[in-house]
Amino acid sequence: MPLSNPEELSARSAELEAASPVEILRFALATWPGIAISSAFGVEDCAIIDLACGIVSGASLHVFSIDTDFLFPETHALKARMEERYGIRVKVWKGSVTKEEQDATHGERLYERSTDQCCAIRKIEPIGRALESVDAWVTGMRRDQGPSRAGIQILERYDHQDGSPLIKVNPLARWTHKDTWAHVMKHEVPYNPLFDQGYKSIGCWPCSKPVDADADERAGRWGGQKAECGIHTFMIRKDPSGPPSA
Ligand code: ADX
Ligand code: SF4
Repeated sequence: MPLSNPEELSARSAELEAASPVEILRFALATWPGIAISSAFGVEDCAIIDLACGIVSGASLHVFSIDTDFLFPETHALKARMEERYGIRVKVWKGSVTKEEQDATHGERLYERSTDQCCAIRKIEPIGRALESVDAWVTGMRRDQGPSRAGIQILERYDHQDGSPLIKVNPLARWTHKDTWAHVMKHEVPYNPLFDQGYKSIGCWPCSKPVDADADERAGRWGGQKAECGIHTFMIRKDPSGPPSA
């Protein structure tokens, strides 16, 4: 696979620190044919889809999303809007354990007792499968989202279960919250209306709450009890540059 050597990847990542998100995406789309954009339809994901569709056709993009069965109706509606506007077809993955099976085994509202267990079943297990056939994984993470993301690199190297390379691409690593919103407003990219109702970060409805205007961006997630659900921390980073993702 091109550019999978950790040292070479790290050097390329350092060079891309001077590049814009669209330049990073153009490079990644041209380098790894097996590239996929993961989307939770947060503002970053919508910005990335908009940028990518300025480079290649929406129909040729591989976009996937994990449906935890706890997404807001507004998120489902936004997915449909993005598909219509950009001509993308989003591949939806669900956990192999249904919500009903989870309720039967662990009791209803597992998220009230163990968000770690619930996230493992509803998010980490399906994203593990979604990534199996992916060479390069584009995410909407930004360094300014908080301490758990401050150390992300533009290109990071992970391993699939079988040891084959998985490259993570973070085109918005250097963008701020303000940069992201400026792009979305300027280009009239659709966004989740819950952002206009006090939400600053949107995931599953039981674990995403509106916050005060001056609160940290991710303070409304998991009642502030944890910063990451695990999809960005369950794999070990193999590239030599900087600290691990979290
Ligand atoms: S989360 O891990 O706390 O949920 P956040 O909502 O900030 O993360 O999203 C960060 C990035 O993780 C998104 O830009 C997206 O690439 C990926 N991501 C998060 N949730 C999902 C999901 N449900 N489906 C696909 N990708 C996701
Ligand atoms: Fe469950 Fe909450 Fe994690 Fe969603 S974010 S998978 S509801 S614990």
